[in-house]
Amino acid sequence: MVASEPKPNLINEEKLFLQQEEETFQWKKQWYPVAVIDHIDASHPHQIQLLGKNLVLWRDGDNKWRCFDDVCPHRLVPLSEGRIESDGTLLCAYHAWRFDGEGNCVKIPQSKDAVTEAKNCSNSKACAISYPVKELQGLIWVWGESGQQAKVESELRKPRLIPELEETSDRVIKLYWYQRDLPFGWDFYMENVMDPAHVPVSHHGLYGNRYSDAKYYDMIPVRKVSTQEGFSFEIPPIDPSFGTGIQDFQPPCHHRIELTSNDQRQLILAL
Ligand code: FES
Repeated sequence: MVASEPKPNLINEEKLFLQQEEETFQWKKQWYPVAVIDHIDASHPHQIQLLGKNLVLWRDGDNKWRCFDDVCPHRLVPLSEGRIESDGTLLCAYHAWRFDGEGNCVKIPQSKDAVTEAKNCSNSKACAISYPVKELQGLIWVWGESGQQAKVESELRKPRLIPELEETSDRVIKLYWYQRDLPFGWDFYMENVMDPAHVPVSHHGLYGNRYSDAKYYDMIPVRKVSTQEGFSFEIPPIDPSFGTGIQDFQPPCHHRIELTSNDQRQLILAL
């Protein structure tokens, strides 16, 4: 056996890892839309929550949106309480340390002299913890993990964009984004929104009728349920002016409802 030849058990371990990657959905290794660009005030930092973590979203001097852990590396106060300065850095409200868009510490005013400041700023412990960010389809997307590895992995995975919005023809009319924060998790949300039985009752007069349309609704699978690709099902018309509806969930966070009218026009709600 030559020294460089991989051991058979290592090959098996790698195979097992890849298999597990495929079989288990990696919730943190995904892109999440966290804000609507047109709705968010770029003049100050904002606290957001993603996957149970408090993060700060802010726009730097190059007009790029950035996302850090909402914790100053000095004394752990929220960076979302800080300020965006005219030099495009984020300034912590406690002792005025400043951070650039990459999370590098670029100013420690309490340093004894310039040499000490440069030395302290170059310490990785003085840096903010930064997450990959993208701006696509009018939304700010944040990757679920931070660090160097996250930078590489985030480039290998595409966000769950809305394919119709990538079309350049006038066949697609984009209406608008609407954002509302609700104090519950995605599973609670899915159970509500995907339940066809509540629609004519809760949305009486808007879509369906609580007296005539509260009845049994079949949910016919459109594609096989898959860990990586989610699921989709069809429901018969609830409102007579529309045809069948399609509910489609693609993890981690793309849910769409497609309603086709009797004259074949389509309304897509992307949630
Ligand atoms: S806690 Fe942020 S600079 Fe001190």
